[in-house]
Amino acid sequence: MNAHSNRALPQTILPGQPITALAPMQDVTTLPFMSVVSDIGSPDYFFTEYFRVHIQSRLEKHILEAITENGTGRPVFAQMIGEDLEHLKRTTLDLLQYEVAGIDLNMGCPAPTVYKKGCGGGLLRDPQKIDKVLGTLRDTIPGLFTVKMRIGFEDTKNFEQILKLINKHEVDLLSLHGRTVKEMYRSQVRYEHIKLAAETVKCPLLANGDVSSASHAFEILDYTGAAGVMIGRHAIRNPWIFRQIREMAMTGKTQPIKLTEVFQYVRNLYNTLAKPWTPEKAHVNKMKKFLNFIGQGVDPEGRFLYEARRAQNKLDLFAICERYMLSSPLEFFADEPYKGLFARPNCE
Ligand SMILES: Cc1cc2nc3c(=O)[nH]c(=O)nc-3n(C[C@H](O)[C@H](O)[C@H](O)COP(=O)(O)O)c2cc1C
Repeated sequence: MNAHSNRALPQTILPGQPITALAPMQDVTTLPFMSVVSDIGSPDYFFTEYFRVHIQSRLEKHILEAITENGTGRPVFAQMIGEDLEHLKRTTLDLLQYEVAGIDLNMGCPAPTVYKKGCGGGLLRDPQKIDKVLGTLRDTIPGLFTVKMRIGFEDTKNFEQILKLINKHEVDLLSLHGRTVKEMYRSQVRYEHIKLAAETVKCPLLANGDVSSASHAFEILDYTGAAGVMIGRHAIRNPWIFRQIREMAMTGKTQPIKLTEVFQYVRNLYNTLAKPWTPEKAHVNKMKKFLNFIGQGVDPEGRFLYEARRAQNKLDLFAICERYMLSSPLEFFADEPYKGLFARPNCE
């Protein structure tokens, strides 16, 4: 595949349309989740959760299966997080043994345990280190080398210098989350920085951060000039979003999603994510993490969210889903999250 020699980006599902990508999300963008999303309407590209890179690291099996067992038919980029040149190189060579579309470097993770070691978002404080890391990876990867980053650590003073390094090391695709590391996940996304990056870098750029609907995606694309969008949390809530972006590109509008379809989505998630050895209660709790996002589009008062968060077992959970999704007077799922409804911060 591409990471082995070819430096052209994989074709989009609809040729000539903006690129769509499912954002990497730890414990979310697993193989089963990718398969559920793909059945609904695949993004053009997938990215794995990050492979940790350090002296003792080995490729984590459960992440690797999102590459080796992937049946979506779409390209999968393997993401790594780390700062040690030798081990980043070793991990890259290990990953290149597999059918990866490209190798992606995480320069944005805001978890203190990660950035304090100089990894993920921590790298953004040290452009000299970035220069070495990107240089080493570019020399090691014959095919597609991609980067996902934020606009800075606590401010944007290094931003333009880092964009120059993206060009210097001929990165093939940049995904940019328009917040600093310290801004985490909630502040206003700074699309003006994404626009500046799209104007500066030579490679295609994916705009990331709060892309909440197909129409919003096109507003962001128009404003920033980005080549595409990368979508995370809003794709958990609305996995139809990739299909809707294609519909909008073709027809200028999107088909509304019925709550009955949301019910099927929840049922598919429940069945596909279940592992035979996971106790029911633990699986129901895992589902709540997804329902926190999905619930933002079910009813405007957040009653579904309130009840779903309190479900004790599978029977409870599906009784609540049936009540709100199969017999609700509201026939349709909201296109944008209802105002005032939030997923819990510990889900991010
Ligand atoms: C639960 C969760 C896990 C995440 N894990 C990763 C990760 O492994 N690698 C990464 O680059 N970003 C990760 N992110 C960040 C997302 O990829 C994305 O940049 C961020 O959520 C903003 O996009 P959104 O508003 O579309 O969600 C994670 C985000 C969430 C919410």
